[in-house]
Amino acid sequence: MTAPILVTGGTGTIGRRVVPLLRNAGQDVRVLSRRGGLDEPGLTHVEGDTVAGRGLAEALEHVDVVLHLAGGAKGDDTAAGNLAAAAHDAGVRHLILISVVGADTMPIGYFRAKADAERAIAGSGVPWTVLRAAQLHEFVLPVVRGMATLPLLPLPGGLRFEPMHVDEVAARLAELALGSPSGRVADIAGPDVLDVRQLADAYVEAMGKRRRRGVPVRIPGAAGRAYRAGDNLAGASVQRGERSWSDFLAELTASTAGVLR
Ligand SMILES: NC(=O)c1ccc[n+]([C@@H]2O[C@H](COP(=O)([O-])OP(=O)(O)OC[C@H]3O[C@@H](n4cnc5c(N)ncnc54)[C@H](OP(=O)(O)O)[C@@H]3O)[C@@H](O)[C@H]2O)c1
Repeated sequence: MTAPILVTGGTGTIGRRVVPLLRNAGQDVRVLSRRGGLDEPGLTHVEGDTVAGRGLAEALEHVDVVLHLAGGAKGDDTAAGNLAAAAHDAGVRHLILISVVGADTMPIGYFRAKADAERAIAGSGVPWTVLRAAQLHEFVLPVVRGMATLPLLPLPGGLRFEPMHVDEVAARLAELALGSPSGRVADIAGPDVLDVRQLADAYVEAMGKRRRRGVPVRIPGAAGRAYRAGDNLAGASVQRGERSWSDFLAELTASTAGVLR
């Protein structure tokens, strides 16, 4: 039996796409999450909490590689600190973190926590890799759906996303987990940088809904300034995926036959 790769958050949106890729590469996988999951040959689940620091030592037994995907709206800095310390104690040889594009530039708590998480991983003493990813289509969808069905489409000036396909993030993470520690690697993002008008137009077209007239709105404060400056967007050295927002919407309508409309 090979040492299992530990995937924290392996039951989540990204994690459940990464785990089969690791399994197909012949790796045993152990998944850590708060709620656990069903075991199958080569795949075991352990319950623990990265923020509370519960169950980490047990999850890390006989593990060389850790892919840290567990995350939430709050506490990602604490979670990464706890995991980094436990991984160091356990003698882990490679610790991989998914972070977010704009971690060090966006003045919003979620991004700041990701920047702190990156520092915790880099300072852990464990050889490491950090991948910053742009928002997934699945994250952008509810935002756009909510806006696109209002009587007037709010158009926050300067707000843009470069959403990407979950399978492309998963493939890159699996590649990194199967490779050597690489430090901070190139950010990954979707093929297009789209504003709210473009995102909403593609959404209403795919869903067969009516296009709404837009009304300009202004995101206030430091967050607004940062979004207008594009601080949430990847830089020139980004690695871009190929699967677009329109591709995602087409997949969605095909797979749900309208259930999610
Ligand atoms: N989605 C995006 O657009 C995006 C973009 C860039 C980066 N990221 C980052 O990528 C990571 C994964 O995102 P995702 O969209 O797959 O998230 P998700 O669907 O919400 O899944 C989160 C996973 O983490 C587990 N988890 C959450 N809190 C935990 C805790 N305290 N202890 C142990 N397990 C915990 C969850 O399982 P339980 O609830 O059972 O614990 C679940 O398996 C996150 O760190 C996120 O910030 C996401």
